[in-house]
Amino acid sequence: MSKITINTQSDGVKIDRHIYGHFSEHLGHCIYGGYWVGEKSSIPNTRGIRNDIVAALKHIKIPNLRWPGGCFADEYHWKDGIGPRADRPKMINTNWGGVTEDNSFGTHEFLDLCDQLGCEPYICGNVGSGTVQELSQWIEYVNSDAVSPMTDIRKQNGRADPWKVSFWGIGNESWGCGGMMTPEFYADNFRRYGVYARNYKGTNLYRIACGPNTDDYNWTRVLMQKVHGSGQSFMKGLSLHYYTVPGEWIKKGSAVEFDEQEWFTTMKKASRMDELVHKHGAIMDEFDPRKEVSLIVDEWGTWFDVEKDTNPGFLYQQNTLRDALVASLHLNIFNNYAERVRMANIAQTINVLQAVILTQDEKMILTPTYHVFDMYKVHQDAQRLPLTVECDSYTIGSDTLPAVSASASVDGEGRIHVSLCNIDPHSEQKVDLNLQGSASPAAKITGQIITAENMQDHNTFDDGNKVRIAEFKGAAISPAGITVTLPSKSVVTLEIK
Ligand code: AHR
Repeated sequence: MSKITINTQSDGVKIDRHIYGHFSEHLGHCIYGGYWVGEKSSIPNTRGIRNDIVAALKHIKIPNLRWPGGCFADEYHWKDGIGPRADRPKMINTNWGGVTEDNSFGTHEFLDLCDQLGCEPYICGNVGSGTVQELSQWIEYVNSDAVSPMTDIRKQNGRADPWKVSFWGIGNESWGCGGMMTPEFYADNFRRYGVYARNYKGTNLYRIACGPNTDDYNWTRVLMQKVHGSGQSFMKGLSLHYYTVPGEWIKKGSAVEFDEQEWFTTMKKASRMDELVHKHGAIMDEFDPRKEVSLIVDEWGTWFDVEKDTNPGFLYQQNTLRDALVASLHLNIFNNYAERVRMANIAQTINVLQAVILTQDEKMILTPTYHVFDMYKVHQDAQRLPLTVECDSYTIGSDTLPAVSASASVDGEGRIHVSLCNIDPHSEQKVDLNLQGSASPAAKITGQIITAENMQDHNTFDDGNKVRIAEFKGAAISPAGITVTLPSKSVVTLEIK
């Protein structure tokens, strides 16, 4: 029997809705063939953007969208993506498949997409191969309503008012594809680019610095010391990238054909996010005890081998129940570290890596990961409830993991939501749910579940509903308390009133 004790008195920490953010790059069929089909497409669209995708993402309350990359961002020159589409220069997408990028989806199209989605844009600027002037002018173009060369061009391109975008990334993976920089060199560059990333009227930029790759704790230390520690307040966020790769980079493992050992390894590697957030957070605490700088996990998710007969540069992979469990583990970690983690972006929304949506021409399917985001949306901007989990282990050979992970919050109407997952693919978990500090006992409990018969189950274009949300009937209130029976390999969100 597992025991979860939840303190129903919040500790005053909000689970920022931006933890449920997304990342979409000019990569494979994320933008082209994903969101963007063009106005002339027979697929229903609004100004070239697919209506079904917008509706699906609005349903899960997508709070923000990071764009245009990724590695692509540090070779992207934004001026190539404005003005009449026919006149836009073409480029080679050197990072992703060497395909021609015709720049038909640029700044105006992206910001229109965010308007249609009702989400906040998060634009990642080019530090690796761009200039301070280029990034500074992009911000001026997007955010200024003064009389200036950039605002004049924007108006000529059909947009009178500035969009007032707050979230700006100053480079991406500057330790790798974004320029192979040392942390010291990047920190100086962040300060230089940061100065000219101006706050135009009505904006207060949320500048996000390129943070560490996985466990590069030295990168975090140098950035915190040289930027935040210097008294400069430019840096509002420090990013962290960590992907769950079950095998080695050269042979990562299949998205759908895997055995239990690979399932276990995937869960183990996904759970590592806890250690990373904890250790990077501890370094940040040394320089920033008031937690003014957020840890922004702006790339996370599973990374498997590409599907057979697809372009290796397009990173197209299927998405099974295993991905749903990985999403649940991550979102629980982010909720539980919400005092430091204030934004996260799953990689990537459509047709790339741990996608929430897959498309094939006019068809679209929602993946198991999509359904986890749907179930977890109740935590967005809710007050976190601290909890402790004592549970059985999931063991394979001599290796063990906690079988159950959980997070909880209370929303503005006093409803408590508890999200749990059981990563054990064989055994159900009985959980004794203990609510502490509540004036009145729980009166009603309802829930939703995602599970499937097999670990490898997934949705296809022929059967898009194999893995989907169902009503959860495994929770009961008795005079002794709340008991929950979590089926093997399941994700559950409970609502307690
Ligand atoms: O998400 C795919 C790639 O992974 C991104 O472009 C890059 O930032 C990371 O290495």
